[in-house]
Order: sequence, then structure tokens, then C-alpha cells
Amino acid sequence: MTSSLPEQWWNQLSLPVISAPMFLISGPELVKECCLNGVIGSFPAPNARPIEVLDQWMGDINDTLIAAKDKEPGSKIAPWAMNMVVHRTYSRLEEELELVKKHQPPIVITSLGSPKHVVDVVHSYGGLVFSDVSSVDFAKKLRSQVWTD
Ligand SMILES: Cc1cc2nc3c(=O)[nH]c(=O)nc-3n(C[C@H](O)[C@H](O)[C@H](O)COP(=O)(O)O)c2cc1C
Repeated sequence: MTSSLPEQWWNQLSLPVISAPMFLISGPELVKECCLNGVIGSFPAPNARPIEVLDQWMGDINDTLIAAKDKEPGSKIAPWAMNMVVHRTYSRLEEELELVKKHQPPIVITSLGSPKHVVDVVHSYGGLVFSDVSSVDFAKKLRSQVWTD
């Protein structure tokens, strides 16, 4: 996996592992502990409700990881990831995208649809998008960039 991550992250990882986003389970405490121990931590954005809570979680994760790096610049601190539902019926997508612009998660993992609305925003600040799909057919669709919904 490290070969698909930017080089500056390689030595920030103790293991090339993402702690998977889990609905109703993963939150900022788990994400911070993962990252502070050199494993990519992630959480599903819908776990933070209402939207104001998402703003707080993203700010808290960034503040904690930046403070830890300032305190010990040589420590391994992995980047964090936010998992976004990108299905067209998901009502909070625009509001969550505004928070992505504000807090700039280094990695966004998209689920349940085309990542097309997310990619430009995340790439604009140098972040990465991992598009999680449930079948080989969806993966092929993404690879050929024909996903239009
Ligand atoms: C309790 C639970 C909740 C999950 N919730 C999400 C989720 O909200 N979003 C998501 O993209 N994947 C979710 N997943 C899937 C995981 O992110 C992961 O892809 C899956 O568990 C496969 O990895 P594993 O083989 O290491 O378990 C969930 C998995 C579990 C076990």
C-alpha cells in the first residue's frame, strides 16, 4: 500500500495499515490514537451528528495531531482519513464538502457512489481520495471514469 501513498507519509507509518471506518463505532478518539501510533485512523462522517459535531471532530483531530507533532517532531504520526457517503440521495454531502475544504483531511475514503464531487476538492489541497467499491464491476467503472451518477 505504501507505494500508492505520497513519499512524505512513508516514514510516518509504523505499519502500512488503515483502521477501517466503522459506522456508529469510529470517532475522533480512535482516529487520534491510531494516528499517534503510526496507523491511518478513519471514521465515517455520518457518525458525527448533527453537522456541527463533524466540524468539532475534524478540528479536534487536526489540533491534536499538529500539537503532538510540534511537541515531538521526530515521532511517527500517520495521516487521518474521513469516510464520506457519496450516494446521490445522501442529504449532507454539500455541507460535509464545505468542512472538507475547511479542515482538509489528508485522505478521504468514498463509499456508496461515484467520488466525482469529492475528487477536485480534495486534490485542490493535496489530499488523496480512495474510492471504496463493493465489486470488480464498480472498480472497472471507476478506472474507465465512466461513473456518471
Ligand atoms: C461494524 C462495522 C462497521 C462498518 N462501517 C463502515 C462504514 O461506515 N463505512 C465504510 O466504508 N465501511 C464500513 N465498514 C467496512 C470496513 O470499513 C472494512 O472495509 C471491512 O470491515 C473490511 O475490512 P476487514 O476485512 O479488515 O474487516 C464497517 C465494518 C464493520 C465491521
